[in-house]
Amino acid sequence: MPEPRATKLWAGRLGGSTAGVVERYTSSVDVDQRLHAEDVTQSLAHARMLRRIGMIDEATLHAIEAGLHQIVREFDEGAFVFEHSDEDIHSAVERRLRELAGDAAGALQTGRSRNDQVATDLRMFGKRACSDLARAALALQDALLRRAAEQRDAVMPAYTHLQRAQPVTVAHHLLAYVEMLQRDIERLLDARRRCDVLPLGSGAVAGSTLPLDRELTARELGFGSVSRNSIDSVSDRDFAVEITSACALIMVHGSRLAEEIVLWMSREFGFALLPDTHATGSSLMPQKKNPDVAELARGRTARVIGDVTTLLTLIKGLPLSYNRDLQEDKRPLFDAVDTTAATLDVLADVVSVLGFDADAMRRAASDPELMATDAAELLVRQGVPFREAHEIVGALVRETLGDGRTLADLTLDEWREASPHFSPEVLELFDIDAAVARRRTAGGPAPDLVAQQIAAAQERLAGMSTELERLR
Ligand code: ARG
Repeated sequence: MPEPRATKLWAGRLGGSTAGVVERYTSSVDVDQRLHAEDVTQSLAHARMLRRIGMIDEATLHAIEAGLHQIVREFDEGAFVFEHSDEDIHSAVERRLRELAGDAAGALQTGRSRNDQVATDLRMFGKRACSDLARAALALQDALLRRAAEQRDAVMPAYTHLQRAQPVTVAHHLLAYVEMLQRDIERLLDARRRCDVLPLGSGAVAGSTLPLDRELTARELGFGSVSRNSIDSVSDRDFAVEITSACALIMVHGSRLAEEIVLWMSREFGFALLPDTHATGSSLMPQKKNPDVAELARGRTARVIGDVTTLLTLIKGLPLSYNRDLQEDKRPLFDAVDTTAATLDVLADVVSVLGFDADAMRRAASDPELMATDAAELLVRQGVPFREAHEIVGALVRETLGDGRTLADLTLDEWREASPHFSPEVLELFDIDAAVARRRTAGGPAPDLVAQQIAAAQERLAGMSTELERLR
């Protein structure tokens, strides 16, 4: 067993030992130990590359490999022991490797700095996080689509300004979220492409005098290309900002869905209910059944938006290239990824079990005022300019409201009095199912169109699922 050397990586330059308060303040091991698998995988690839270019001999490579495999086992078994002098995951692994493999551990650091090392670990993490999140977003899309398929004929009001606007179907409404998530998935895959560039070989900032084969390491680690500028490589955290902001936007979408669930579950709307397994009660008011999951999804969105702000603020004042400030990038990135993944999962679950009160929704959608636009469009078909038609129907709404009636109560004579262009057809406007069915513009709510949209979305989902499988 070789004698462990001085504890610090910079023991040659700095005399004496580091003050405890400094060790505690500078350590990031509590957060970045999460990167242990990436760090070891990276080290294995780096060692093989060093062997290939003749920088280390076969015995050294074997010692490094054996030591690193042992370290993997220790992490897997929860047996890896950190020491207070371990500054970060990289120094912890290096320290342990020195205990296991002696001087071979030192050879592993040939041509490598923790600056390019941490950037590489983080990009490896980022690539996987993007595809994992995309899969979770896909699962939520799938849950929404399943509910949409079963709610194709269930009518509900569409809202603008939170005022009842026009009749649609529940399926049509749910498909709006499928669209948002589709853009989210595309953003994640785009962020992943930008993660897919290997910084390793950039050294501390200016590369190396040694003939490192960066392409070889990139191939070993599954990176699409190597970075083009060593200064940028060690100081760039754009990829972390991109992942985190993709997460923030996913959360914003989840938060809007959550808000609607909260509204729909209120007695005022009464559109939806959750089974007892997915609701919570009040410690004081015995009658309460609360949508806490949705509220927390909405609340945690605040934190993820904060994570984006943290990262942008962290980077904005940094002179090139690496500065220790960058160590603070991990907490917001990890938090955004974890919170978003958990939120997508729970929302998929909530969407799957959400009960819709079809009658309450139908009642709300049957409000005759929701056909006011349809009445105006009847006049347009007879050649009346839309603005004029709008005014005619608007006046009828005002008039009927004034005497406690609705548009549905008007007789043909009354319609004709307002405009001679009204035909008897106007009396049939108020059949709610027919009203939804005549909205046949592309992207509209007519049930047969929505059925096609669902089928198309299911096909897209299947394609995306295959693409994401490839990225595993
Ligand atoms: N733990 C650091 C980080 O996460 C990497 C170490 C770089 N340290 C240094 N003194 N150059 O960014």
